[in-house]
Amino acid sequence: MSTDSISVDQLRDRFRAQLARATTDADLKALHDEFLSRKSGAVTGLMKTLGALPPEARREFGQLVNTLKTEIESALDEKRAALEATRRPAGAVDVTLPARKLPMGRVHPLMRVRHEVEDIFSHMGYEILEGPEVEDDFHNFEALNMPPDHPARDMQDTLYLDAPIAGGTWGAHRGKVPEAQVRAATLLRTHTSAMQIRYMKTFSPPVRIIVPGRVYRRDNLDLSHTPMFQQFEGLVVGEGVTLADLKGTLEAMMRALFGDVKVRLRPSFFPYTEPSAEVDVSCRACGGAGCGTCKQTGWLEILGSGMVHPAVFEAVGYDPEKVTGFAFGLGMERVAMLKYGVDDIRLFYENDLRFLEQFSI
Ligand code: DAH
Repeated sequence: MSTDSISVDQLRDRFRAQLARATTDADLKALHDEFLSRKSGAVTGLMKTLGALPPEARREFGQLVNTLKTEIESALDEKRAALEATRRPAGAVDVTLPARKLPMGRVHPLMRVRHEVEDIFSHMGYEILEGPEVEDDFHNFEALNMPPDHPARDMQDTLYLDAPIAGGTWGAHRGKVPEAQVRAATLLRTHTSAMQIRYMKTFSPPVRIIVPGRVYRRDNLDLSHTPMFQQFEGLVVGEGVTLADLKGTLEAMMRALFGDVKVRLRPSFFPYTEPSAEVDVSCRACGGAGCGTCKQTGWLEILGSGMVHPAVFEAVGYDPEKVTGFAFGLGMERVAMLKYGVDDIRLFYENDLRFLEQFSI
């Protein structure tokens, strides 16, 4: 092989080594100039030596140099295209980056219970409505058959307001409270039962309502008490409503909320119902056999209920000879505690994400 072909090979090796190190457009431009520039390129230089060769060598050498030239050109093109392909377009998003985690909100466990109960009863044709949290004595106590000396009115239990405030309207979408019924509010309602009176004073029977909402009592915070908690009130009034209707309704609600549980009614006392019953569901933790959760009884107390007392009907202008009804009240927190196995009521109000994030979305 001629010395000339060795210099072609050397040039090729040099080019390849430098190409491997080139990482930018500027590197490629420099390489191009070094090997191919018209004036001073190394390959161009070899071409220029052609004329001095004997004709038979000129042909062979010319071919070698030409091959090298095209090789270098296409290698440079290829590398340029490869660089172009990896370049990020200005301002573009890198879709290959892992996504940043967005903080995700969840429905609060009490709200889940509330929605669930509202769903159960809307399917049964109940109207869902709220009432005022700032109430007067008449609706919260008197009309519910709790006369002025009733122990529930004790300052120990009820949060009274410093001064009466003018009563307003309430949220029933069927209408406003007539002016004559608007009384000065003197307390924070201790139960949603107050809304039974507001509703019945405004609308005639039949009645089928659920009233979810906040209630207030002078309680200190502990495992099972908060000064503000939430209840559902249920009220059904019509001709021929019986205790069997109450039991059937409560069973339907408990099964929808807790699955396959047993329900039992225990005689109890509330001034606004006669007869009155406390309602228990069988303990899900032990299946009714008795455990720590149900204090070995197999049952968990869940709500108060009964047949509406005739005195209540009289207070709202209903005829107790014509209509009967049932009512019940239950705590939202109590349901949520049993349903989700929460043993401290305060957790619902502390807004601790470690607690709230345990509930799925
Ligand atoms: N108001 C009662 C309470 O706060 C619950 C209750 C019991 C509501 C019996 C009712 C009822 O409507 O009939 O503990």
